Amino acid sequence: MTASVVVRAPAKVNVQLAVGGLRPDGFHDLANVFLAVGLHDEVTATPADRLRITASGPDADQVPLDETNLAARAALALAARRGVPADVHLHIAKDIPVAGGMAGGSADGAAALLACDALWGTGASRTELLEICAELGSDVPFSLVGGAALGRGRGELLEPLETGGTFHWAFAVADGGLSTPAVYRECDRLREASGHGCTAVELPDPQPSPALLDALRTGDTGALAGALANDLQAAAVSLRPSLADTLRAGSTGGALAALVSGSGPTCAFLAKDPENAEAVAEALLASGTCRAVRVTSGPAPGAMVVG
Ligand code: C5P
Repeated sequence: MTASVVVRAPAKVNVQLAVGGLRPDGFHDLANVFLAVGLHDEVTATPADRLRITASGPDADQVPLDETNLAARAALALAARRGVPADVHLHIAKDIPVAGGMAGGSADGAAALLACDALWGTGASRTELLEICAELGSDVPFSLVGGAALGRGRGELLEPLETGGTFHWAFAVADGGLSTPAVYRECDRLREASGHGCTAVELPDPQPSPALLDALRTGDTGALAGALANDLQAAAVSLRPSLADTLRAGSTGGALAALVSGSGPTCAFLAKDPENAEAVAEALLASGTCRAVRVTSGPAPGAMVVG
């Protein structure tokens, strides 16, 4: 019998996050262009007498250890479908910022699902795994797939995208997270206040930018810098005004472009090359406008068994 299974899953940055109107089900239709980047969480699944979650890493104290954790929910969802008990210990080695807009919780959900599938020998098909991921959360299917992809619907309907090169990034990690629902609510409030309305009947369908998809396909960093866009950025900055200082510090520090990652508060800085990314990271740290910096690149592969 397998003693344990280790799965690694990547963080993401949204190079375009076009947000449509609020739907009757409380979600927003998206044109969400995901890029997986090389920061990872690792989930180790080991047989146990009951479902148990533990976490390690610098921010482990911020990881919920109950059944609200997407890793726990993934194990429960797979166990329920197979009619087996979810008796597993899931240990999360946390490296992705918590509640940071980089899909760390989603990465843990996708990783736990793959790990339990391998540990229990359930042999779920890719289609079934993606179905369970979509039930767990809008960003979870992308954590499984990785690379680059366009997410439609609430972000769960994925179309893989070709990428023609490697993109280099510096990330500024903020002190404390932001709640995703709160950022979407603030986006709706700002839209209402500006007189455009905020519902799906009042607003046009969100569309991916042809220039952005082209830049990804050709690996053109300069063109990608010009096309980066996040409709949640104004809402994240409205809830956390200090993010404007962080964005400015990275731009002054030499980044080609700056944007809030997803619902934030992590800020993402696109760099010309690895050296430029390191220089931007140093400028960000020196500015005192963030808690930590990370330098990495994308695309990175999706969740995979590594041990
Ligand atoms: O799908 P997930 O659980 O990650 O979504 C968390 C919350 O983010 C939702 O409850 C909703 O408030 C908001 N959301 C949204 N539209 C999306 C995705 C998420 O409004 N497309």
